[in-house]
Amino acid sequence: MKKIMIPMLIASAIYANDVENNTTKPQLSPTVLKGVTAIKMLGAELKKNVKAKLQEDKSGLEAMNFCSTNVAEISANVAKKFPEGVTVRRVASKYRNEANKPDSVDTEVLEQFQKELEEKTFEKKPKLVDVNGTKRVYVPLLVSKVCTKCHGQNIDPKIAKVIKEHYPNDKATGFKEGDLRGAMVAEIKEESK
Ligand code: HEC
Repeated sequence: MKKIMIPMLIASAIYANDVENNTTKPQLSPTVLKGVTAIKMLGAELKKNVKAKLQEDKSGLEAMNFCSTNVAEISANVAKKFPEGVTVRRVASKYRNEANKPDSVDTEVLEQFQKELEEKTFEKKPKLVDVNGTKRVYVPLLVSKVCTKCHGQNIDPKIAKVIKEHYPNDKATGFKEGDLRGAMVAEIKEESK
């Protein structure tokens, strides 16, 4: 009897610990985790490239030139490393690239994030939505200081010129720090486990 009591006690101690951890720090579900991981991979790659270009040229012009021609290719290369059935897009209500125009579900989620920001209930955490069996994981993107170089209110005329050349219908300027810029959305097909 004594012999089995000890492992049982240890097991319940671990379990109690888990429960405690769960209440303070909720665990992400495997689907959400999968989406967030892919989103982080793309985010890190884009950030690394923009940062390098901004170090070469602080005005942001080099980075602007680079982004306006290379984002699609960088995204496609990162996507090769995602698990099968997982894709990541960027969306925004005020989009720069037509390819990032939100669909109706995207718009609903973006409006929800926006509402939460206005009502001060916003938390920078992912939202999970099921769209006909495809799971979508949304991670909101807020404007930080660096973003305002290319998305802000007082954009350097040289940068503004490049934006106009590449994106004549650009809607993605006029933002201030802390605004909702858009979201990254991972789509996970149901078969992908
Ligand atoms: C050097 C200029 C530059 C900086 C700095 C920059 N962006 Fe952008 N951003 C762009 C360009 C160019 C595009 C369009 C890329 C494309 O063609 O897909 C873009 C597109 C986006 C998109 C996709 C939606 C859309 O409008 O097409 C999001 C979201 C975004 N940026 C968020 C941010 C955030 C958040 C930051 C700061 C962390 C940031 N950007 C900093 C230039 C920049």
